Parts: sequence; structure tokens; C-alpha cells
Amino acid sequence: MAYDDLREWIAALDRAGELKRIRTEVDPILEITEITDRVSKSARSSPGGPALLFQNLKGHPGAQLLINQFGSARRMNLALEVEKLDEVADRIRAFMEVKSPQGFLDKVKMLPMLAEMGKFFPKTVSTGSCKEVIKRDRFSLLDFPVLHCWPKDAGRFITLPCVITRDPKTGKRNVGMYRMQIYDERTAGMHWQRQKVGAEHYREMLRRAAAQSAWGQPPSAVPASEARQSTASARAAVDVMARTSGGSQLAEGSLPGGKMEVAVAIGTDPAITFSAIVPAPPDVEEYLIAGFLRQKPVELVKCETVDLEVPATAEIVLEGHVHLDELRTEGPFGDHTGFYSLEDLYPVFHLSCITHRKDPIYSTTIVGKPPMEDGWMGKAVERIFLPLMKLTVPELVDINLPIEGVFHNLMIVSIKKSYPGQARKVMNAIWSLGQAMFTKCILVVDEDVNVQDIGEVTLKVLNHIDPERDIQFTLGPVDSLDHASRLPNYGSKMGIDATRKWPSEGFTRPWPDEILMDEKTKALVDKKWKELGIE
Ligand SMILES: Cc1cc2nc3c(=O)[nH]c(=O)nc-3n(C[C@H](O)[C@H](O)[C@H](O)COP(=O)(O)O)c2cc1C
Repeated sequence: MAYDDLREWIAALDRAGELKRIRTEVDPILEITEITDRVSKSARSSPGGPALLFQNLKGHPGAQLLINQFGSARRMNLALEVEKLDEVADRIRAFMEVKSPQGFLDKVKMLPMLAEMGKFFPKTVSTGSCKEVIKRDRFSLLDFPVLHCWPKDAGRFITLPCVITRDPKTGKRNVGMYRMQIYDERTAGMHWQRQKVGAEHYREMLRRAAAQSAWGQPPSAVPASEARQSTASARAAVDVMARTSGGSQLAEGSLPGGKMEVAVAIGTDPAITFSAIVPAPPDVEEYLIAGFLRQKPVELVKCETVDLEVPATAEIVLEGHVHLDELRTEGPFGDHTGFYSLEDLYPVFHLSCITHRKDPIYSTTIVGKPPMEDGWMGKAVERIFLPLMKLTVPELVDINLPIEGVFHNLMIVSIKKSYPGQARKVMNAIWSLGQAMFTKCILVVDEDVNVQDIGEVTLKVLNHIDPERDIQFTLGPVDSLDHASRLPNYGSKMGIDATRKWPSEGFTRPWPDEILMDEKTKALVDKKWKELGIE
């Protein structure tokens, strides 16, 4: 049965022996990172260590902080209530395989599936535990034990926020996980990278601001009194936005006025938190994905001060706005690449209200050198997305995003090759597929290579390639965290075709057989093995 909130999830972790309560006083500044980093990298017998519930936080008497909740394969399965993540993939596959019913019996057979689909849609309820305390004044972001993660970070960062925005075009909601640097009691950085859905909602608001201010109108969803002026500067801003990279060349003051509403939920049930990182198509609401994952609708409540809905049982909800004419330096921040992501300009979130449960549990994570908690979340995305990737790339057999490849740096894929040049077609398809566009290096191997076995991949890839012939470079968007690309967000990517080469691909030399022992000899040795007394 689905976890209804973070507390049910914590209780489940506890029952499964996956939670450690820590009562010794610790400091959210650096100290929790050092403890959690050691735990994440600990014990070969239980990789990822336990989830940690800190109950004695320096400077925050009575507060509790949860970290490393997703930090192992077992906990990721528990979070999504499966034995193996492939079960989620199988459920997705079952929905994709639905054919038009041929007769009455087929229609009857579809009823359970339709009933199941009904469970995915979120429902809005009148109130929820996230409103046990409502603070419209005298509130502060500093009330929560927000971490300062690494020594050279620019400050404290909220690292596990579900950021909710609304598409001004369609009205659909998006939930994305974008870190927030705390500037002061009521403002924080809004680090949606430019290719993410929250950033596109922001750009659409800017476009509207530019278009409408040309007619003397405020951007829709913004009261006239709050729309700021300057048609020319508005158009220029949108134009600059389109031409520049990470926003770093956007001058403060060159943007049109207006506000965009934003809500942030912290400490939701695990399906909602996980759905915020899922690279879903922009038009698919993450609340629906969470409903699919937990097989129970997500209950939402309306915010107090903005026209958005948030999970009813969230521990903490931040309500506020991003001003369209304001950018501020964000970062540096010790990131999941193992390096600091450098400072850049990002919008600023202004808090207008906080609601929270009584004695809220602050939920967070740290990122840094892998392996860490986010690695396990990424692995879950890998498994769950395979059937969806196969819709566009049907020859895909399996994929592996090694944790040290930090998800955007390396993807290993095996394919069923049926025609010349197919490996290169697959690379281009992946570079065109949502956030997979960021993949810096794609290795393509034949279907008989086990991509989960890095030893086998290394052996076969390096044996099979003629580098000059088999490496393909391309230019395009790269991850904002790529510190080596020629420009922020733009650079080159590499694909390696390590499939067997065919005569139809110009390879006319004989391809050698792989060394494998015959089955008869293997069976003979199996029988004698004990007698040999080697083990
Ligand atoms: C712990 C964690 C922190 C993240 N922080 C950011 C961030 O600060 N900015 C960002 O653009 N993406 C960040 N991501 C990745 C996004 O959450 C991910 O790309 C997600 O699909 C974005 O949602 P969207 O497609 O709705 O924009 C983070 C992911 C994780 C697991």
C-alpha cells in the first residue's frame, strides 16, 4: 500500500532495518555532509549504508532531518514498493502493449487496466497536514536546518525540493527538483537549468511579458499593478535569452517586469520526491507519474497565496514568486560530478508564505563524488525508462549509466543490429531524446555484450574499435554542470560504435570468433571439480 507521507515512509524504513536515528548533536554546516558521505560510501555488505534521521541539530532545537532515504538499491525498491525496479518497467510495458479491443471479451479484459489508470490522477482535497501551521508573516527560511554541504559552497542550499510551476500555455503543472541557495530569510536562488521545464515556464512568462507589454498589458497571471514597464527592453530580454547560454550574459535590469508563481514542497512521500527528478516529457504532470508509481492518487491542496497545488501531506511548503526582471548569482555548489558547479545567474525565489506540519521533518540530500544517494535514484530512472526509450529506439536491448559517469557523461547501450550504420543511428536517436541529449559519451555494443558488466564492456569495446573509423563527434546542448565544454551548455559529444563491423559497412577482413569453451568439456570439468581439490 502506498506511503501516504514522509512519516509512513520513515516508519517503513525503520521496520526494514534501513534507518538509523542519530541523537548526538551535529551541525548542518559541513558536519552532516561528512557523516553522510562516509555512510554513502560505506560497507561493501550494505552499499549505501542506512537512511539517517538526525534528531539533534545544532542551532535547531527539536528539529529532525532525514537524509540518504533513497541511498541504496534496496531502499529505492522499498520507496517504489517493488522487489525489483524491472517491475515498474513491466507495468509501463503492459500499458504500452495495449491493443484496440477486438470484441466484447477484449473490452471486458481491459476493465482492470482502466480502473488502475483511474488511480493515477491526482485529486484536490480541501485541506491536508501540510497546513497544520500556516505562517503568512514572521517566517524565515533560516528556521529550517538547511545544509551547507561543502566547504566552497556559496552558502546553505535546499537540496531536495519539489519545485512546482504551471505552464502558462497549457495550465499543466510541473514538479522538478531544482536546488535552492538560501540568500536570506525570504529569498533563495532558483536553479532550474535552462533546458528544464521550470525554466521553459519562466521563459514563456517572459515571452508573454514582452508581447503583452508591447500592447500596454501585463503578462497574464500577473496583476496589472505589478507588471513592470519597457516594451523594448522586454523584447530585448527574450531575444537575449534565446541567444545566450546559461543566462550568464543576461544583464540585470534588462528583463521585463512581472512575476511567476512558484511553490516548493519539501518532505513528500517517496514517490512524489522521486517523480520530481524523472526526466518526463514536459506535458506529462509529475503528479500523474507519482500516482502511477504509488498506484494511488496523489492528494493535493491549494496553496494559500499562489494559484498552485501542492502535496497535501508535505512536511514543508514554501509559497512565493520569481520576479521576471531579477537574476542573481547562484553557486558555487559542490555537485554530483565530484566538482563544484560554478556560479552563474539564476532567477530568485521570493517567499510569501510557509505552511508546514507540526514539528516538520526536513528532508534533504547531498551530492558530491559518487557513489551517493542520487546515484541510486538515477539507476532507478535508467531501469524505468528503458521501455520508454525502446518506443523510439526499438533496437535497444539494454542500457547502463555507470554511477561514476554521473549520468550525463556515459551511457553504454547494447543493440540488436540489423542494418549498416545502425549504431550511429542509435547515438543520434539518444542525443535527440529528452534529457538524454546531454550524454557526453555513448558506447554502442552488440546485443551479446552484457552492458552491466564493465569488465566485459571494456574488453569488447577496446577490441572492436578502430578509433578513427568508429568514433563519431557531434555538437549540441551539453549539461549545465559540464565544466569542460567550450561554452556553458554547448559543446561536443562522442559516440563509439563498438559493434562488429560488417562488409556492408566497408569492413572486409574476417572477424575472429570469441574464445569460448565447448559445453561437453565444461560439463566434464564440472563433474570432476570437487575431486580436483582446488577449492
Ligand atoms: C538531488 C538532485 C538535485 C538536482 N538539482 C538540480 C538543479 O539544481 N537544477 C536542475 O536543473 N536539475 C537538477 N536536478 C535534475 C532534475 O531534477 C531533473 O533533470 C528533472 O528531470 C527536472 O525536471 P523537469 O524535467 O520537470 O524540469 C537534480 C536532481 C537530483 C536527483
